[in-house]
Amino acid sequence: MIIKDAKFLTSIIDKNKLEQLSLPQFAFVGRSNVGKSSLLNALSKRKSLAKTSSTPGRTRLINIFEINNSFYFVDLPGYGFAKASKTEQASWQGLIEDYLTNSQNLKLVFVLIDSRHSPTEKDIQMLKFLYAYQIPFKIIATKIDKLTKTELQKNKKLISSELGVGVDDIIFVSSEKKQNISQILDLIEEFLN
Ligand code: GTP
Ligand code: MG
Repeated sequence: MIIKDAKFLTSIIDKNKLEQLSLPQFAFVGRSNVGKSSLLNALSKRKSLAKTSSTPGRTRLINIFEINNSFYFVDLPGYGFAKASKTEQASWQGLIEDYLTNSQNLKLVFVLIDSRHSPTEKDIQMLKFLYAYQIPFKIIATKIDKLTKTELQKNKKLISSELGVGVDDIIFVSSEKKQNISQILDLIEEFLN
């Protein structure tokens, strides 16, 4: 899979607009600052298609990007953004859950976790949610360039055992160094066929 064309399509603030999304969708979820927008840019080989920021809570709406005129990337707001009020957090959470349970053409959800740490309670909650609603998902561990080889080996075992999955069930990536990005593109191709 090669991404030749990527453009911002629209932002969504309520579930009523979901019907307009007629193409297959791949969604990116994960806690704030985990690297969702950066991964989207790495996948589409664009520097700033999706806005990234070192300030957590940057993506506050559901942003839709149209890829190769044939499918959508869906950049969801990050959860667990500590500085947001309870009301704001609940409203984002509601928006994320509305999207995940109502979108007709959702093919696969990429759940991003940070390769440097154990999965958080919010990460586990999200995985349980997807499992309960039988929404297909794939776990991606981000920012592996921040780990040494030894640390990465150690964390691969730790994270997979904590999540109760095989090491090979998680894709370990770096958007910064473009490591293992092609594995995700291959998976997308598989799900489109
Ligand atoms: P929200 O929109 O707040 O939910 O965050 P996000 O998940 O979209 O994170 P974003 O892509 O904006 O990245 C957050 C920070 O992590 C930025 O400073 C990025 O440069 C950095 N970052 C993301 N991916 C990587 C990576 O693979 N390696 C390194 N070293 N830094 C990364
Ligand atoms: Mg973002």
